[in-house]
Amino acid sequence: GPPRITVLGSLNMDLVSYVSHHPEPGETMTSNGFAVSPGGKGANQAIACAKLSRERTVDQQGKPIAPTASTSAPTAHVAMAGAVGDDVYGTTLRANLAAHGIDVSAVQTAPAGVPSGVAVIVVDEPTGQNRIILSPGANYQIDTTKSASLVPAGTQLLILQLEIPLEQVLRALQEACAAGVPVLLNPAPAPATEEARAKLEATFADQAPGLAHLVLNETETAAMVPGLTVADLDTQAGLSRAASYFLARGVQNVVMTLGGRGVYFATAAERGKEVVGELLQPEKVKQVVDTTGAGDTFAGQYALEAVYASAAGTAFDCAAAVRKSNRAAAVTVQRKGAQESIPWRDEVV
Ligand code: RIB
Ligand code: NA
Repeated sequence: GPPRITVLGSLNMDLVSYVSHHPEPGETMTSNGFAVSPGGKGANQAIACAKLSRERTVDQQGKPIAPTASTSAPTAHVAMAGAVGDDVYGTTLRANLAAHGIDVSAVQTAPAGVPSGVAVIVVDEPTGQNRIILSPGANYQIDTTKSASLVPAGTQLLILQLEIPLEQVLRALQEACAAGVPVLLNPAPAPATEEARAKLEATFADQAPGLAHLVLNETETAAMVPGLTVADLDTQAGLSRAASYFLARGVQNVVMTLGGRGVYFATAAERGKEVVGELLQPEKVKQVVDTTGAGDTFAGQYALEAVYASAAGTAFDCAAAVRKSNRAAAVTVQRKGAQESIPWRDEVV
């Protein structure tokens, strides 16, 4: 059967306002548009794995596309573990995953009175850049000890982010390591305290053969490397220093997404060298409409490349995976919303 991916993480309902500028303190403004749509970094990454491993069955206008041999034949099996509230948003979030063929049997329902996670998002229309306020709700109630194994036999990859309690992430990391299952860690949002950072680092650095994939943006990189600032990442020296830091702690593949500046990546083969890593230039896009979900799309496509390689028994080609993931994310930034903006397999060329 197709390779299996498990995503443990958040499910949020995104409440998105599109504005011509961000409001000033005390300002009341009118948006240019508003949408409620499924999001959450965990669920977005699960949806990315599902959509990017399947072809469209309807076109942009919603008209059915005649099935071909490859249509609807999924090239990956995706399971989601997380928690939603016992409310309307929770029902919608779970149903949307299931509608994309994702196994939702490990999506728990939080105790009564705990709402589903919500993200209030403001998108600045001139730039497409967003600002996000998270209210974790049910995401902070997940208890992985109550679910069956996160890494059932045959799992090729476990994907983790940081929108659920750190202790759950650490337990999952340890479980995957004990089972010999590679992990893709996307430390987003960045650890909020030095204690959290140190615990996370200690957990992945302690494990053999090391963390398989660390995928993170500039803010997260600065937060994960002691003494490093976002400004340091403006230079190749800073990028190389950050990558070296992670390689020295056992990470096999480090991928830093730099938004409009491209992607910087380094692999274990470079460990110990003076300068490590390589910059991939950004994709050219006509107009950045809404960057929401772009990082998650990148992570999903990258995860698929990793499991395709392990299923085929071939070596993982990090550079090729980064290039393809960059192309997938470029589609997402040109569309509104999170999960709905993620392309299908046949939309990424
Ligand atoms: O990565 C984008 C996501 O971050 C949004 O969908 C929002 O829910 C926040 O979790
Ligand atoms: Na988008």
